[in-house]
Amino acid sequence: MQDVLVHVSDSPATALAERFVEVVNALPHMSVAVSGGSTPRELFRILAGRMRDAVRWEGVQLFQVDERCVPPDDAESNWRMLEEELLTHLPQIEAHRMEAEGPGADERYEALLRQHVAPNAQGVPELDLVLLGMGPDGHTASLFPGTDALAEQERLVVVNRVPQLDTTRVTMTFPLLQAARRRWFLVRGADKAPAFAQVRTGSLPAGLLSDCEWFIDPAVAQEASSSADGTR
Ligand code: 6PG
Repeated sequence: MQDVLVHVSDSPATALAERFVEVVNALPHMSVAVSGGSTPRELFRILAGRMRDAVRWEGVQLFQVDERCVPPDDAESNWRMLEEELLTHLPQIEAHRMEAEGPGADERYEALLRQHVAPNAQGVPELDLVLLGMGPDGHTASLFPGTDALAEQERLVVVNRVPQLDTTRVTMTFPLLQAARRRWFLVRGADKAPAFAQVRTGSLPAGLLSDCEWFIDPAVAQEASSSADGTR
């Protein structure tokens, strides 16, 4: 895990939201890809609530990092959570759903990204910011340990079978995530601490991305420091 900047605070979601306001307002337009799961809920509530009017939303294009293969009104849907906690509270912004419930969702979303996001010198759409989470197993996006999508080096979005969850996901891949200008992880909770400590060795999916900023709470930081100096 090279080029790492770690912000430790009791509310990493607040710290990230404050950085988000700074960065979004400094750019004429911004493409942002957001993860699902439960951790971003607090961040979305802050951005939809007390910080909503601090953000120039009209310049923001929103994308999804990954999605479960369920309809958008399903309790498991990341889009449903994003709509409930953020989109319905904002002025009209350009947000692109992954449509993971249908066949060909990966190809369609890759085409949509290529249509809406300017490419870097290598021809890969260069998102301005990717907001990532991490599971206790060190997965990020829907790039789970031992799954096929970890090896994908060409395609930008794939369908990934996740045997350990007995499920299938649609997810952005490492080439797309690494091509982004910024990668911010939002991680909290002692259950994530052992994975964060291991991420430094690059042995877990979340550790395979370089040049990232981590917004974590003391429980995560504590484990990392104790395991780093062997005091655990
Ligand atoms: C998802 C997310 C996933 C998430 C981690 C952490 O679809 O679940 O994109 O990568 O970031 O699983 O999830 P929690 O925030 O719920 O711990």
